[in-house]
Parts: sequence; C-alpha cells; structure tokens
Amino acid sequence: MTTSKRTYLVTGAAGFIASNFVHFLYQHHKNIAVIVLDKMTSAGHPLTVKELEQYPDFKFFKGDICDPAIVKKLMAGVDVVVNFAAESSVDHSIDDPESFLKTDIGGVYTLLQEARHHHVRRFIQISTDEVYGQIMDGSFVETSELKPRNPYAASKLGGDRLAYSFFVTYGLPVVVTRASNNYGPRAFLEKVIPLFITNLLEGQPVPVYGQGTQVRDWLFVEDHCRAIDLLIEQGSNGEVYNIGGEQEVTNMELTRRILKMMGCDESMVKFVQDRPGHDLRYSLDCSKIKKLGWQQHHDLDSGLAKTIAWYKDNPKWWKSAKQRMDARYFAGFWGEKT
Ligand SMILES: NC(=O)c1ccc[n+]([C@@H]2O[C@H](COP(=O)([O-])OP(=O)(O)OC[C@H]3O[C@@H](n4cnc5c(N)ncnc54)[C@H](O)[C@@H]3O)[C@@H](O)[C@H]2O)c1
Repeated sequence: MTTSKRTYLVTGAAGFIASNFVHFLYQHHKNIAVIVLDKMTSAGHPLTVKELEQYPDFKFFKGDICDPAIVKKLMAGVDVVVNFAAESSVDHSIDDPESFLKTDIGGVYTLLQEARHHHVRRFIQISTDEVYGQIMDGSFVETSELKPRNPYAASKLGGDRLAYSFFVTYGLPVVVTRASNNYGPRAFLEKVIPLFITNLLEGQPVPVYGQGTQVRDWLFVEDHCRAIDLLIEQGSNGEVYNIGGEQEVTNMELTRRILKMMGCDESMVKFVQDRPGHDLRYSLDCSKIKKLGWQQHHDLDSGLAKTIAWYKDNPKWWKSAKQRMDARYFAGFWGEKT
C-alpha cells in the first residue's frame, strides 16, 4: 500500500481479538504506528493495554467510537482502520439490546463518516458469522441469506451493511469480515473456553447450556489475525470474507476435550438452563479467503493447548478479569456464581 510509516487505528484493543491483532501487527510488520481507541467496558482489560504499551509508536486512548469528536481527532493521518470495538456478548444483548444498537451500528457510522472525510486507504469492518443465523446442513457462503437471531447479531449486521453502503455510496475502501467463534489468549471470561479453563484451574465446575448439543466452529485467534492482515493487503473493496476454523464440534465435545487436556473428568460438568433463541449450528465456507492464500495453522487441539498454556501462565490477568465480571451475568444466566 505504501512504503512510508503506516498508521493503523484499531478500535477495541483492550479486548480479546483486537489486542491479539495489535501484537500480530508488531510481530509481522516494521515501520508502523498503532492508535487504539477503546471505551474500557467490562470486556476491556487494563493489563491487556499495559502489555501493548511496550511497543514503539503505540498510543492508547480511552473513548467511545460513538463520539465524533474523539474519532475525528484520532482519524487524522490514519491509513488503515480496523473496527473491532463492539458490545460482543450475546447474553448481554438479550438483557440490554440498546447498548448494542448504539455501539455496533451507531459507532460504526461515526467511524465510517470520519474515515470517509479523512480519505483512509482501507476500512476493515469486523462483523461475525452470527449475521447469517443458524444452519442445520451445509455451510454459509458470503452471499447466503442474512437472518440474525439475537440482538447482538442483528446489531452487527446493521454495522456490516452500513459499512458496505459507504463503499457503494461514497467509494470508501471497505472490506467486511465474518469470522466464526474465536478462542485464544486474552479472551474475556464470559466466553465459554476461557471460562471453562479458568473454572477448572480454580477447581470449579463448568456450566454447559442445555445438553451441550449446539455445534460451533472454532477459529484460533492468531489465524484470524493473519486473515485480517491479508485482507488489508489483498481484500477487494466492497467484498465480504468468511473466516472460519473449519473445526466444528458440539459444545459437549468441546467441553470433553478441555476436561481431558486439563486432567479432569465429566463430574466437573454442570448443565444449566439454555439461552433463549440459542442458535443450534454455525458453519462457514471459507473458499473465498482461501483463494487469496490464507489457511488455518491450528487445529482445535493445538489451539486449545496454546490457550490453556496461556491461562496457566497468566493467573494475574484472568483472576483480575474474573473479579471484574458483572455480577448480573452469574445471577441472570448461570443461576449462581460458579
Ligand atoms: N469473539 C468472537 O468469537 C468473535 C467472532 C466473530 C466476530 N467477532 C467480532 O470481533 C470483534 C471483537 O470481539 P472480541 O470478542 O474481541 O470482543 P471483546 O468484548 O473482548 O472486546 C471488545 C472491546 O471493545 C471495546 N468497546 C465496546 N464498546 C465500545 C465503544 N462504544 N467504543 C470503544 N470501544 C468499545 C470494549 O471495551 C472491549 O475492549 C467484535 O466486533 C465482535 O463482534 C468476535
């Protein structure tokens, strides 16, 4: 794109995937500057930010992507915007949909407007496979029908299509990604894999929704970061790309693998009431991004081994994350603190 220093505006990098992406950028590129904008919701972790502050030409700003003043200030001189910032918990979206509409649609609008005025060279909108809804057979391609089934997924679809409209209407160089469930280091503990790993490290049971029959596709976060990096360079403007792990398992099978890798048995499982509107299966066809040369480097077992090792090595991080978790989460969804 350019040989001079490239400046990225990465939103949401106090959170899971975006923080891994910033590490990825510094590990794979020279001559870069990274600006992070993050509101520090309960999903943002101060220790995640502290770790990133070791890098040169890195600046962190606490603020809201819905705030035009800060977005305008930070956008000046930016080459690439990667918008990860989102209210990202399906469970919370059932409880409080309004904040999802504000950030996942309104915040995307604010970023798109300023990106357009500042003529950024690439705008990556991080969407999700949940915009497709559930699928019982086969896999979603990028042109599949969009039928989100919870307020999180519907809000993300709003941001996804708004970004596309800025490509069509204003020529903004937008690329939209739709990834499957990510796992790896620094994931907030409301997500199933880190919750289960840290519960087991504490000798606590693991709560499985319903009978654990839902099928999810698991993507190791580093493979996701590599895909985004590739799309910044080679993605076509206005296009959507699926990014999946192609590692589909039921939640119960996932639970069994984690239990085994951590030396525990099924007596640690506690079945809890299923979530309303719980999608039964997601599955992505990733042929489109594979044609650009991307492929996963991790299968589920190798990714889980790296993830378990990270949580074992970083008790300070996850113990303080657990303390910060919303008490409503335990009370409303698990019935009691596990
Ligand atoms: N986690 C997954 O499995 C997955 C899968 C597909 C797509 N995605 C998408 O990837 C992105 C990142 O997901 P994640 O799991 O890392 O999320 P996360 O919840 O770990 O992090 C989100 C970050 O965004 C910040 N944030 C929230 N609202 C904000 C606002 N208004 N302004 C600025 N910052 C704000 C939070 O403080 C947090 O640091 C999201 O857009 C999500 O929809 C996630």
